[in-house]
Amino acid sequence: MKTTRRQFIQRTGTFAAAAATFSAGRAANVNGRFTVGIIGPGGMGSAHLSALGANPKVDIAYVCDVDSNRLAAAARSVEKLKGAAPKAVGDLRRVLEDKSVDAVFIATPDHWHAPATILACDAGKHVYVEKPASHNLREGRLMIESARRNQCVVQMGTQTRSAAGIREAMDLLHGGAIGEILVAKAWNSQRRGSIGKSQPGQPPASLDYESWIGPAPMVPFRPNLLPGIWRWWHAFGTGDFGNDGVHDIDIARWGLGVETHPSRICAMGGKYFFDDDMQWPDTQNVLFEYAPDAKGRTRQLIFEMRIWSPYVLEGHENGCAYYGTKGHMLLGKKSGWKLFAGNEVVKTGPGGPDLPAHHANFFECIVSGARPRADIEIGHLSSSLCHLGNIAIRVGRTVQFDPVKEQVVGDDAANQLVRRQYREHWATPKGV
Ligand SMILES: NC(=O)c1ccc[n+]([C@@H]2O[C@H](COP(=O)([O-])OP(=O)(O)OC[C@H]3O[C@@H](n4cnc5c(N)ncnc54)[C@H](O)[C@@H]3O)[C@@H](O)[C@H]2O)c1
Repeated sequence: MKTTRRQFIQRTGTFAAAAATFSAGRAANVNGRFTVGIIGPGGMGSAHLSALGANPKVDIAYVCDVDSNRLAAAARSVEKLKGAAPKAVGDLRRVLEDKSVDAVFIATPDHWHAPATILACDAGKHVYVEKPASHNLREGRLMIESARRNQCVVQMGTQTRSAAGIREAMDLLHGGAIGEILVAKAWNSQRRGSIGKSQPGQPPASLDYESWIGPAPMVPFRPNLLPGIWRWWHAFGTGDFGNDGVHDIDIARWGLGVETHPSRICAMGGKYFFDDDMQWPDTQNVLFEYAPDAKGRTRQLIFEMRIWSPYVLEGHENGCAYYGTKGHMLLGKKSGWKLFAGNEVVKTGPGGPDLPAHHANFFECIVSGARPRADIEIGHLSSSLCHLGNIAIRVGRTVQFDPVKEQVVGDDAANQLVRRQYREHWATPKGV
């Protein structure tokens, strides 16, 4: 029988030996050091670069970006932080083919998350991938399969999962502090800017646009794709549900304690405020219903999004509420939580997030073989809520979902949106 990484570690008790033995595609992780590459060290990627730069256990061997300006800036930052320049490459395959690289951090736009993660796992690399895990539901399943097939640790970038204050709140909820939780709500209430309207134009000279598009179907460049504006286009992003909302719905689902997909999704929303090129809704209200659990309990998740609000809700720009049979809790992702018994506050605690702690958990799991706090399966369940809420809005009707087959039931148009179209490209995932 094949020995798993975890069984081997339990048997030998030596982390370095375990890493050396099981890192088929990776260099042996002796001395407790990790060699990493950062793919997409631009926006959020630069936050990873700073945190990894300050981590004495990490050697940043590569930075990889398809924008030569961002690439050069990232290489300079690493040299400043670590005293040694990394290799600076524009093609992620150069990072993946280097056997000395243990792990990659992927902070590209959403449409590259799954293709890059699957290639990385197949090359034997552990992966820290930004949220949302995937651009669509089918990709998330393929990411799980690739992680498990290659025995790689895949952590999603929902760093609130590693924040001590939020973890304490979850322990209270799961310990019955408000009784049985039947409903939880997440909200994303903030004021975003308009992305304006644009015409097709020439990409900046520093950008390898062909590689930026990757396996997605080719479309002409537009000035309001960059910087970071791609997230409002169907082909590349997942709207603000998959952008900020995924953190909130993830914390709401975590507290509610459901570890499956919902079976019914009802949503309304659209472009109620912005008159611009944004393709995703600026206003979105989604209800997710979970089929009865083993004890016969049905549960509900609610997501509210208004990205034109110059005010916050219940004191929190991004927050969650948990409704139990005995009490409730209000939780701000950043600002902390309040536990209520009746209408009285009986306990409070701090919020998050904690990026260095989320990195530390990733590295610990590479050594121990344990599943990380935002393991790809957890990431897939939470990211799928964004995808399903978006699907229900796009088709404009209630969607029935089979949580096991991961298929929409009885609605071909909605089911088409469980996956996407790709062009012929070396990074197009197999089996999509
Ligand atoms: N965890 C968080 O709190 C958090 C916060 C912000 C953004 N994010 C996530 O980080 C990701 C990036 O968002 P952003 O705002 O930094 O976007 P961005 O467009 O500013 O940065 C993405 C970078 O990836 C590069 N890139 C694109 N394709 C590439 C490829 N094939 N190979 C190498 N580099 C490539 C781009 O040139 C750019 O430098 C998104 O998925 C977003 O959801 C997470």
